Amino acid sequence: MTILVTGGAGFIGANFVLNWVSQMDEMIVNLDKLTYAGNLQSLSSLKGDPKHVFVHGDIGDRPAVQKLLAEYRPRAVLNFAAESHVDRSIHGPQGFVDTNIVGTFQLLEAVRGYWQGLEEPGRMEFRFLHVSTDEVYGSLKTDEPAFTEGHQYQPNSPYSATKAASDHLVRAYHHTYGLPVLTTNCSNNYGPFHFPEKLIPLIIVNALAGKALPVYGDGQQIRDWLFVEDHCSGIRRVLEAGTCGETYNIGGWNEKANIDIVRTLCGLLDELAPAITRNVINQATGKPVEHYAELITYVADRPGHDRRYAIDARKIERELGWKPAETFESGIRKTVNWYLANQEWVKGVMDGSYRDWVALQYGASNA
Ligand code: NAD
Ligand code: TYD
Repeated sequence: MTILVTGGAGFIGANFVLNWVSQMDEMIVNLDKLTYAGNLQSLSSLKGDPKHVFVHGDIGDRPAVQKLLAEYRPRAVLNFAAESHVDRSIHGPQGFVDTNIVGTFQLLEAVRGYWQGLEEPGRMEFRFLHVSTDEVYGSLKTDEPAFTEGHQYQPNSPYSATKAASDHLVRAYHHTYGLPVLTTNCSNNYGPFHFPEKLIPLIIVNALAGKALPVYGDGQQIRDWLFVEDHCSGIRRVLEAGTCGETYNIGGWNEKANIDIVRTLCGLLDELAPAITRNVINQATGKPVEHYAELITYVADRPGHDRRYAIDARKIERELGWKPAETFESGIRKTVNWYLANQEWVKGVMDGSYRDWVALQYGASNA
């Protein structure tokens, strides 16, 4: 038996692949385009492991995907591949349309052809699982209840709009062609192998380098954080027991304001990697840093910034018996420890194109 994942060299995909190989006795084929966000170093521990096959390619390349499906005959396809960073989608939405919408369409077409050609019982047992986000539901006011699966789609950024479009295509392939699909909509993830353009790894990396810790706007925007391994276990559970055509919200009931996340990270770093001991110098003033919170800097807000996301995860708990294993406190401590122990990985992903991105988003003096 084999499964095919796409985007398995990215943050969540790599965690999923690593967990799969360590916990399941089933081969995993990993199709990834290796954009700036894809990193084979995240999978280096799998070198030589026959259960993992890496294939460099694009989900939008239908003939290549058809060939892969014919060769490996997977029982399921899990689509993690996407352009995923909201700020990048504001600077350049084209790549988001290309991969998230057109790429998902091409992938669905290849999968539809493959699935239609399967014999029973393989045809009935086949699954296409689409990994999506809570951002498709838009933004909540402070007193509004958390997003349920029935919440109206109201995407506000080019990123979330393209993810919403892909969710609709997946839904349509079920209703029109009967393709056995499952969709998961998850809240913000954090954990190992998270690319340092996103809030949590960016704050850790900048703090250790004595750089400004950029907080957009008033820092009171709320995200609902889930440890990445919990997201992976939720996806596995949906794959195993989810009802075709259904969507499942995945979340950890961990709503936090951005400024509180940044302060928590500073506190953990003060404890685990004191700035004085490490001789961290504030890059803006040239003076030694005593406490990392000194580096917090409020910067211009993100255009169209969603105020609050919150996931109502009762359906997956009620119907599939899934609950997160990690609390925010245990997960965030594991994450900080992981970054401290994996500085080589961090250095490896912060190449020239990363510095170009930082200069574009935060100004040349921060690159
Ligand atoms: P990521 O940006 O870290 O990784 C994306 C991966 O997809 C990279 O390895 C990249 O090389 C690959 N990729 C991009 N375009 C491709 C293409 N055309 N063909 C093949 N591979 C391609 O993203 P992530 O944070 O790991 O997110 C994975 C999925 O989970 C995405 O679909 C995202 O929308 C969704 N999601 C993310 C979060 C989060 O907090 N990160 C939360 C909910 C849902
Ligand atoms: P991010 O990690 O980009 O995830 P998303 O936009 O998908 O939720 O951002 C999380 C929150 O942190 C979001 O409200 C934007 C904010 N943020 C900052 O305040 N500063 C930053 O430098 C970044 C990258 C994000």
